[in-house]
Amino acid sequence: MKKSSLLLPLGLALVIGACKVNKQSVQSNIYQEEHRPQFHYSPQKNWMNDPNGMVYFDGEYHLFYQHDNYENVFGNMSWGHAISRDLIHWQEQPKAIVPDSDSLGMIFSGSAVVDKNNSAGFGANSLVAFYTSTSPKQQQSMAYSTDKGRTWTKYKENPVIKNEVGDQIPDDFRDPKVMWHKESQKWIMSLAVKDHVEFWSSKNLKEWTKESEFGQAIGSHDGVWECPDLFELPVDGNTNNKRWILLVSMNPGGPNGGSATQYFIGNFDGKYFTILQTGIRWVDYGTDNYAGVTYSNMENRAIAIGWMSNWQYAGKVPTQPWRGAYTFPRKLSLKTVDNIIFLTSAPVKELDKIVTNTRSMQNVDVKGSYDLPADIKSFKGKLLFQLASEQIEEYSIVLSNDRGEEVVVGFDKQANQYYIDRTKAGKTDFEKGFGKRHIAPRLTKDNHTDVTLLFDAASVELFADNGLTIMTDIFFVNKTLSKISIKSANGLNIKELNYSGIERIWK
Ligand code: FRU
Repeated sequence: MKKSSLLLPLGLALVIGACKVNKQSVQSNIYQEEHRPQFHYSPQKNWMNDPNGMVYFDGEYHLFYQHDNYENVFGNMSWGHAISRDLIHWQEQPKAIVPDSDSLGMIFSGSAVVDKNNSAGFGANSLVAFYTSTSPKQQQSMAYSTDKGRTWTKYKENPVIKNEVGDQIPDDFRDPKVMWHKESQKWIMSLAVKDHVEFWSSKNLKEWTKESEFGQAIGSHDGVWECPDLFELPVDGNTNNKRWILLVSMNPGGPNGGSATQYFIGNFDGKYFTILQTGIRWVDYGTDNYAGVTYSNMENRAIAIGWMSNWQYAGKVPTQPWRGAYTFPRKLSLKTVDNIIFLTSAPVKELDKIVTNTRSMQNVDVKGSYDLPADIKSFKGKLLFQLASEQIEEYSIVLSNDRGEEVVVGFDKQANQYYIDRTKAGKTDFEKGFGKRHIAPRLTKDNHTDVTLLFDAASVELFADNGLTIMTDIFFVNKTLSKISIKSANGLNIKELNYSGIERIWK
């Protein structure tokens, strides 16, 4: 479906869109609809996929996103926009960048930077966005804003990187992610080109030179490479020992099917990215974290947001008048385990602002099944759940309702795997294979384990072992999950158990 939509001529898409727009009345119950995420970002209406142009500027977090102007399916893509001052509460803004008569087509994924020193000449501290234009083929374009991201002007000489490789024109040539590389005093753009990433450089954001290619024979190639992101982080918190991380989303070919994001750890010298470790590594083993990239212009903090869906079924999920939501913002770090450096994720600390009613218990022995006290009902499906144990034993955490629907998150000791099982999680028949159990390896060998779960109306995010193993899955239950049970046939001693409600972010 996606590919055929891509082929729809822009003019036609606009006409179809214009006819549809009148039918959509503004909803009075926005953010109250069935399956509507309550503390994750989703647009008021219409289709949304990748996060774009995430940039922090002047106390505001900008979140742009792939948004269909008129429909609840992928089609007439433009950049939607929302702003937050705390990464938690978002305010949807008017559309930022839309297709128009420039005939360069739709506005695909990309990034934004703060041009502090006016290297592009649009003014000091202007915001400069890069995106992929789609017509007549994929090329890179630029737009800028001199009013803190409120309005955007397309650069008149677009595209800034033409797709002109003669007969070998790549069909897939997209998703520019730009960053300032201090060491070489250049802007660096990472681009996804079918089966590899290209690095381009520029002094003025307008003229770009190709520096190198990475990845043809490295990592997973079971799908098309998309949405790269290159950034640097300290290893184990040591700022004297940093590494470069390259995120690459790929569709299909994820560890549990469909879309997923892999990462590479290495060095970057302003021209070449060289890897330091081989093997395939996934940012998130669940099926529903795709196209995630990090915020630009944030010193010492890598904050990622991903699209909580999967191209395999994104167009069929049973929500309306919107489709698509984002992961809770995550702080990325590097952690060494047995001489291998892993990327870890944790919910950003701002989460504390909306956590309420925390209950704590110590030394809970679970043998068979243990139901948490009934007041869990007041949490209305939005839940922060954490457990820590000094024992590595099988267990599961079951969220259920009185219709027999359940979402199960657990640890399989024998396989040394975490899992999320959405087999009985309400609506699953919109896509064959949606109702499944997904698995992820336990990566640490510690005898200590900890798990943090974020449950929203239609998603669960699992952060295990201090963020080493991550899974994100969406689900569509027909009634709020109001009961929590912990199960362990062999018996598990939980040293510390905490659970809290999470406030809804929409006013
Ligand atoms: C990733 C992606 C990008 C593209 C965008 C189009 O999900 O396919 O490569 O720019 O979506 O919406």
